[in-house]
Amino acid sequence: MTAPVPAPEPGSAPPEPVEFPLARSCPFSPPAAYEGMRGSAAPTRATIPSGKEAWLLTRYDDVRAALSHPASSSDARHPAFPALGKGEQAVAAELRPFIRMDPPDHTRVRRMLVGEFTVRRVREMRPEIERVCAEQVRHLLSLPAPADLVGEYANRVSTTVICRLLGVPLEDLEFFRRITTVSGSRSSTEEEVGAALADLFGLIGRLIDEKAADPQDDLISRLVTGPLARGEITRRSLLSQIGITLNAGHETSRNMIPLAALALMEHPDQLALLREDPSLWPGAVDELLRYLSVADVITLRVATEDIPLEGATIPAGDGYIALLGAANRDPAAFPDPGKLDVARPQRNHVAFGYGAHQCVGQNLGRLEIEVALRTLFDQVPALRPAVPPQDLPRRSASAIFGLEEVPVSW
Ligand code: HEM
Repeated sequence: MTAPVPAPEPGSAPPEPVEFPLARSCPFSPPAAYEGMRGSAAPTRATIPSGKEAWLLTRYDDVRAALSHPASSSDARHPAFPALGKGEQAVAAELRPFIRMDPPDHTRVRRMLVGEFTVRRVREMRPEIERVCAEQVRHLLSLPAPADLVGEYANRVSTTVICRLLGVPLEDLEFFRRITTVSGSRSSTEEEVGAALADLFGLIGRLIDEKAADPQDDLISRLVTGPLARGEITRRSLLSQIGITLNAGHETSRNMIPLAALALMEHPDQLALLREDPSLWPGAVDELLRYLSVADVITLRVATEDIPLEGATIPAGDGYIALLGAANRDPAAFPDPGKLDVARPQRNHVAFGYGAHQCVGQNLGRLEIEVALRTLFDQVPALRPAVPPQDLPRRSASAIFGLEEVPVSW
């Protein structure tokens, strides 16, 4: 890794790299150490679990500049790619999901999917998502309290919605839930992730064949009868692209819904505002996305040329991580950033990333979170945490931050 620009003062030793990723001390807030890092114009040098080094970006303007720069590469095959999980780089380099591709390959694949997630398409899904959430609240309430909001509500909502969208039959739901638990955890070994992905690909491969023979009104059928049939994508690449969409769409909502519900229970004044004026809900969802930033460390990149930042440069050939949680708490962009304010007027957070890879499923993500939270708080007015949030086990080893379980009473 080359020296940062600006270079350290002559004669002074460069600061020791920090070990990354860092743990959250509060489940609702990105690691407190980001605050100190943001005080310096130069990015922070970090050692990551693979033993490699990468730069950490913590300023809002730097994060946006570095994610939208044409020299920012997401290609996992680059030797400096700063993958954080065990085996993550090898798997991504082999499978080439489009989240880890550069243009023009990335643009070509993304174009095949973007039409599935337009505001209009997603709006059409609302009644079905409302039905799924109502059904899963009934399931939760059928259990003795306290019950787990992660396993008995959010995970069930999230897997059902993504499987409906893609056209994964209900009888495969449990199987899918098991696979994604292993593949989404950083504590899984390379072999475990490989086995889980092989199972997932087995399932998707079977669905591709079934839908080619008997297409339905779902995303996999449209990809099979469209781009695959026209020879615009190989079957192998299609498997990867469906796999990443399933995984990304499920993991994020599964973690975000219970954490957001808990944050609102911990801020009863904010929940009261939403109860008084439900038109605040869409803005509140964006504020919760900013405040919680569950996908903080997902934006892994390599600079293919020098990338200029406000007070520094990321040297060509170096890996960097644009910390979305740090950017979303930058006081230069959000006044009083540590405050959860459901009426906050700004929606310019980067919780869905920024630039070419900005979340393709964000309209669906927003809707799912809104409907899941509204249904829950409407149907269960006395909902309350059964364990203090600080004591809840965390999924710190996962690519997306979340809580292992959130026991609630009512
Ligand atoms: C619910 C909250 C969600 C959050 C916080 C979130 C966050 C993100 C972020 C930060 C990225 C950018 C990654 C990067 O730049 O390297 C991303 C990309 C992506 N997300 Fe989401 N996401 C959410 C929901 C969803 C949903 C519901 C789906 C699909 C159904 C989805 C599918 C994807 C895909 C396929 C990409 C890759 C896009 C590309 O590389 O062009 N996400 N997401």
